[in-house]
Amino acid sequence: MNSLLAARPAHVPADHVVDFDLYAPPEAKQDFHASWKSLHAPDVPPIVWTPRHGGHWIVTRNPLINEVISDYTRFSNNNIIIPKEAAKDSKLLPTTIDPPVHRPFRNLLNTSLGPKTISRNEQQVRAVAVRLIEEIRRDGACNFTTAYAEKFPLQVFLQMIDLPLEDAPKLKQWSDQMLRPTPGRDWGADQNGFAWGVRHFFEYLTPYIEERTGKDGEDVLSRLINGTIDGRALTRQEALQLSAQVLIAGLDTVVNFLGFAMLYLATHDEARRQLVNDPGLIPAAIEEMVRRFGVVTIGREVVHDMEYAGVQLKAGDMVAIPTQLSGLDDRVNDNPMHVDFHRSAAEHTSFGNGPHRCPGAHLARLEIRVTLEEWLSRIPEFAVAPGQEVRFTGGIVAVVDALPLVWDVATTRDIAAA
Ligand code: HEM
Repeated sequence: MNSLLAARPAHVPADHVVDFDLYAPPEAKQDFHASWKSLHAPDVPPIVWTPRHGGHWIVTRNPLINEVISDYTRFSNNNIIIPKEAAKDSKLLPTTIDPPVHRPFRNLLNTSLGPKTISRNEQQVRAVAVRLIEEIRRDGACNFTTAYAEKFPLQVFLQMIDLPLEDAPKLKQWSDQMLRPTPGRDWGADQNGFAWGVRHFFEYLTPYIEERTGKDGEDVLSRLINGTIDGRALTRQEALQLSAQVLIAGLDTVVNFLGFAMLYLATHDEARRQLVNDPGLIPAAIEEMVRRFGVVTIGREVVHDMEYAGVQLKAGDMVAIPTQLSGLDDRVNDNPMHVDFHRSAAEHTSFGNGPHRCPGAHLARLEIRVTLEEWLSRIPEFAVAPGQEVRFTGGIVAVVDALPLVWDVATTRDIAAA
């Protein structure tokens, strides 16, 4: 990751420059969301430019975030990773294409990850959650990140696409490097960055795709790669690009969102007890926490020279979209840093917006709901281990580095025995 600062181009006004590194936001180690929220200070314009990672724009307010993420006629998905050199030869589908080419690929995803398909998996998802929670319930302590968050969505998803569970650690290592490359290394380096990770995913998936193409497997991977695009079969390269994208997107996001949600519940007894006493509130609580704890920062490439939000944008400029700032905008949500499970009609862009809006949201919501239902009914009282500091890392997907939780085993419930 090249940390050299780019010179300010002539079309960037000096009063729109901030020094903000999306892979290492200032003070994000202490509070990831407060760090990004600093871009809502009254003197910061709704679009700013940072010299980090080759120099790029950042949209900071809800209306611009929604516009840039969805208006593909002005902001293309041709490049979504900053800096764009990092991923220019590592295209994934359907994230790096715009409509209308995007639509048929997206239809395939909508079918494979739609609410009907996903709800059929609820029992399986619940079984994984219960097993993982029961493994640690009597310990009275765990690092939630490693004991649960990093295991649960991976195991659920690997089961759904029928890949070996024991491959989870290596898949995680590749996606970690893609989404949060090791600082100080060049993006082009052999052991780091987006292209490196994509290459590994392609190599890994190739034999599975060869084995399952043309067969009538019921798993999500088989359905995806045997789908049709405008009446024709997918090419081998398209099948790889599509399945790698789904795998990568399904691996990292829920893991990290769960960390933020559980940290909140561990540090807010009253809110947590509301959910313990009234589990019917859990779906609304999930929506509110998804608003409050967005985790994805993605990019778009400017299609043509234009004036936008009071600045000149040039074709090829990159714009970062911190989806986590959309729901934290006090111009659309009152008191946005406060979590209120009874908030109505909250605005947010945590699952994106427009043609690329997250097709995995049904699975994500199911995984989060099942986790909260099963965890809170078994371990209703828990807190962050005294004296332990929780730290965060920024990136394309933000992370709670470690979440040490403790609880009194006497307060837990043995549901199976009850
Ligand atoms: C809390 C969990 C999740 C969050 C916050 C999240 C967020 C997002 C966001 C913001 C986008 C839009 C990216 C863009 O506009 O460029 C997106 C796209 C996508 N997500 Fe998710 N996601 C989550 C879970 C999942 C899961 C579990 C899966 C897979 C099973 C998934 C699969 C995808 C795919 C394939 C796309 C690309 C869609 C396209 O380009 O048309 N996501 N997600």
